[in-house]
Amino acid sequence: MYFDLTGKVAFVVGTAQGMGEGVLRRFVGAGAYVIGTDIKAELGQEVADSLPGKCEFHQLDVTDEMAVKSIMENVKEKHGRIDILVNCAGTITPEIPVEDLEMKDVRKVMDVNYFGTFHTIKYALPIMPDKSAIVNTSSLGDIAAMPGYGAYGPSKAAITNLTKTVAMEQAHRGLRCNCISPGSMNTPMLYAEGVETEVKVAKYAWPLGRFMEPEEAVAIIHALSADDCLYLTGQNIIIDGGYMAGTSPAGLAKWAE
Ligand SMILES: NC(=O)c1ccc[n+]([C@@H]2O[C@H](COP(=O)([O-])OP(=O)(O)OC[C@H]3O[C@@H](n4cnc5c(N)ncnc54)[C@H](O)[C@@H]3O)[C@@H](O)[C@H]2O)c1
Repeated sequence: MYFDLTGKVAFVVGTAQGMGEGVLRRFVGAGAYVIGTDIKAELGQEVADSLPGKCEFHQLDVTDEMAVKSIMENVKEKHGRIDILVNCAGTITPEIPVEDLEMKDVRKVMDVNYFGTFHTIKYALPIMPDKSAIVNTSSLGDIAAMPGYGAYGPSKAAITNLTKTVAMEQAHRGLRCNCISPGSMNTPMLYAEGVETEVKVAKYAWPLGRFMEPEEAVAIIHALSADDCLYLTGQNIIIDGGYMAGTSPAGLAKWAE
């Protein structure tokens, strides 16, 4: 079977909802055993309970370095290794210009998005065998800056660069590290308080004329995690419905009006 994950132990962050939940479900479907984690305990447990025997759930705040270290030690004891690490946790601020952003909010976004990703990679690497895979979540906000995203965009740019750095450091043992950069995706984050522009412009901004569904990003994460793609590392896969390729026909028509 192509993209088979049978026998793989996957550690996924952010599995209570949205894209991370989709990764957990898809990986289980492809044969992996998934260790799901999220700061939201109740929702995360519900997701795991719907797939008995195929996954487990642990509440984890990825900003807590010692908690990440400790869970990785427990995973080593129980499962011996992590074959696939996927970082899907993320947070965003309302759309606020840089001069009005509160530093505590900027730090929170950096903490969850960048340091959270750094923590899991740092503590998972020692228990990841050769030829294993890491997939991080950056954002189109790294490549194409958007007004109001002065905390979120840079936190994602840092993830893209960390991805490349880890890819270089681990290349000698065939361990691959890639990230994805989704455009607007139909998950709870898109409807977060104060994040309104993306929803309003969807029809015009995206050449495909719609948001991405989380399963469409999950499919790419699956491919990046599977042994079918052993020659792909250090890449940032942009999943944007054609946004970076040119001007969307609907957007052009709107401009012309
Ligand atoms: N939805 C979009 O339009 C979009 C676009 C580009 C990138 N992304 C990125 O995709 C990833 C998945 O996001 P999503 O759209 O599914 O959003 P989401 O808000 O639905 O899910 C994010 C998950 O991360 C968890 N989380 C937040 N803080 C955490 C912490 N400190 N520790 C552990 N878990 C924590 C949340 O509880 C939630 O379950 C994120 O990295 C996000 O930045 C989303």
